[in-house]
Amino acid sequence: MKPQLRRALWILGLGLLAIALAAAGAWYLRGDNAEIRSGGVVAGGGSALGGSFELVDQEGRTRTQADFAGRYLLVYFGFTYCVDACPLALLAMTQALDRLPAETADRVQPLFVTVDPARDDPAQIRLYLQNFHPRFVGLTGAPEQIAAAAKAWRVVYEPPKPDAEGNYQVNHTTIIYLMGPDGSFIRHFDHLSSATDIAAALQATVK
Ligand code: NI
Repeated sequence: MKPQLRRALWILGLGLLAIALAAAGAWYLRGDNAEIRSGGVVAGGGSALGGSFELVDQEGRTRTQADFAGRYLLVYFGFTYCVDACPLALLAMTQALDRLPAETADRVQPLFVTVDPARDDPAQIRLYLQNFHPRFVGLTGAPEQIAAAAKAWRVVYEPPKPDAEGNYQVNHTTIIYLMGPDGSFIRHFDHLSSATDIAAALQATVK
């Protein structure tokens, strides 16, 4: 399938998903992972979020925070088998970057970090990211490396509880972090933020 067609189908599918989520609205937000979704994030800049990490990208290359120095980062933790928040978040990040002038968008690096390293190896992440912005870097690693990165961003995720077929979803924080070129936290969005809002915030922030 052509990438454009695949993306169009994804957008269509996600549109339907968004409608379903809206219908489920109140229930969804009051669900058992409402707490986990909000994580420990505090509003406003200057808090000690983020930091050093050592992970592996979708091409199998080791990546550390130093590789992204001097760039704005949009950082999101999730997993490729996620059926709710993750596709919405990655699509919003993709569409926000698509709406910006190239000189602004090019200063922002979108990052996806898996919280499910058991299934999300580099090849799986590479496949998944074909549905989203071409400049996405997807990161995985050993469970302890993922745990360290998640802790730095105050992301929490629950241990998987596989069903009889071995399938599972992972409850996790669904915050999108905007980090500055010096590595400091600027502000956050979440998986229900619109691409329009994210793009406007980036336009106002990225210098
Ligand atoms: Ni998810």
